[in-house]
Parts: sequence; structure tokens; C-alpha cells
Amino acid sequence: MRKQIAAANWKMNCTLQQAKELIDGLINENIRISPDQEVILAVPFPYLMLAKEKLKNINGFKVAAQNCYSQTSGAFTGEVSAVMLQSIGVDYVIIGHSERREIFGEQNKMLSEKVNICFGHGIKPIYCCGEPLQIRENETQNEFVSAQIKEGLFHLNSSQLENFVIAYEPIWAIGTGKTATADQAQEMQAHIRNVLAEKYGNEVAETISILYGGSVKAGNAKGIFGKPDVDGGLVGGASLNLAEFSAIIKSLK
Ligand code: PGA
Repeated sequence: MRKQIAAANWKMNCTLQQAKELIDGLINENIRISPDQEVILAVPFPYLMLAKEKLKNINGFKVAAQNCYSQTSGAFTGEVSAVMLQSIGVDYVIIGHSERREIFGEQNKMLSEKVNICFGHGIKPIYCCGEPLQIRENETQNEFVSAQIKEGLFHLNSSQLENFVIAYEPIWAIGTGKTATADQAQEMQAHIRNVLAEKYGNEVAETISILYGGSVKAGNAKGIFGKPDVDGGLVGGASLNLAEFSAIIKSLK
């Protein structure tokens, strides 16, 4: 069975002290994580080693960076490479979050290179996709998201795509309090799985965890995660609150 995942995306939030409290708080909650489940904490770069250290003996918890650069090393002031992340044992990297796409102008082509560099260094990408409001209003979201999947991922081979993680995050639902309905999430995520199945076959597509992101909260997580093609969530705002995020983890299938 593919993994059910609760991934916290802290974005650019938390001081060191707050980061410690949040991680310790989660550890102390002692939530039972089954072998088909995973909790991923995508923390800011300065706290990656802290998170790795604190979580090293905690079953089911993994650590993610929120971005990396598309080159391994060199004169790229301010960037962080997959080699560095590998050297401190980071498990995952979020690639192509809509904030990276919209604010920093990252495009599918560059994101496909980032995906490659992660694979080259033993780090699993969490590849994000999702449409802006305008596209949803024009009802062309399926084509838009298909293009993000094809241009970002279709150069990979089937064994790379096995157990891959994708996050569908409609931009109009991120940080807005406006969640997609569970049915809207299911509809798009089934579409994404179909697009993958057409290229890689059903068997591979069925192993891919597709997370929903966009205003997931304790109150709506169970309904959204209950849908057959929703394998958990990528959670921003609510992941900064211990009680909220703990309840979200407990809402996983
Ligand atoms: P949100 O963010 O849960 O605050 O809407 C989700 C995300 O951007 O990953």
C-alpha cells in the first residue's frame, strides 16, 4: 500500500526556540505512526540538523528541506545544494512549491533539473503542482496540472516514480482559509494518477502518494484524507500549531 503522509511545511516561520518546542511537543505527543504512514517536517534550512537529531530515533518521522538548487556546488551565493542536504541526512526536499513558482519564478524545466539532482543524491523530492484561481475559473485546471506533471516528471523512469510523492496544492486554497472540497481534491488527484498511469502504467501510479495541500486543518483533514486518491496532506499554517498538526496526523488513513 502506498504511504499515507502528513507533511508539515513550516515555510519561513519559527525562531530556533519555537522550532525546538514544536518538535519536542510532537515527540511528546507519542502518536502511533503505522508502517504505512509517515510524518514529514519540512523546516527552514537552519533547523534541519536540529530536526534530524531530535527525530533520529522516532519511528515514522522524516525531515525535509523546502527547496534546493539545481546544481551540486559552486558560485551560487545564497543557494543550498542536494549534496549538502544529503550530507546531513535530509530525507526529502519540497520541489516546486507554488510560492517558489510564483514569487521566485521557478519553472517546470528548472524544477525537473532539481528533481534529477535530488535523485542523484538519494533525497526524495516532494513535487508540487496546482493551478491559480484564474485557471480554475476558466475550467482548464486539468490541462494546467497535467503540463506541470509532464514537464517536471516525465523524463523519469518507472523505478524512480515508484513510491514518489506529489502534492496537489490549488493556489487559490493556500493560506486563504479557502479549502478545496474533498470532492474537488479527489477529482484532481484521480486525474493526476491517471496522467501518471497513462505513461507509467497502473501499477506504478498506484504506488505514488498524492497529498493535498491548501488550508488543511484539524477540522477538515479527515474528510479530505478519506478520499481514495488523497494520501494525506502538505500542511502550512496548521502545522505550526501542535494540537492542530497532531490531530491532522491522527486523521491519516
Ligand atoms: P496552508 O499552506 O496549509 O497554510 O494553506 C499549504 C502549503 O502551502 O503547503
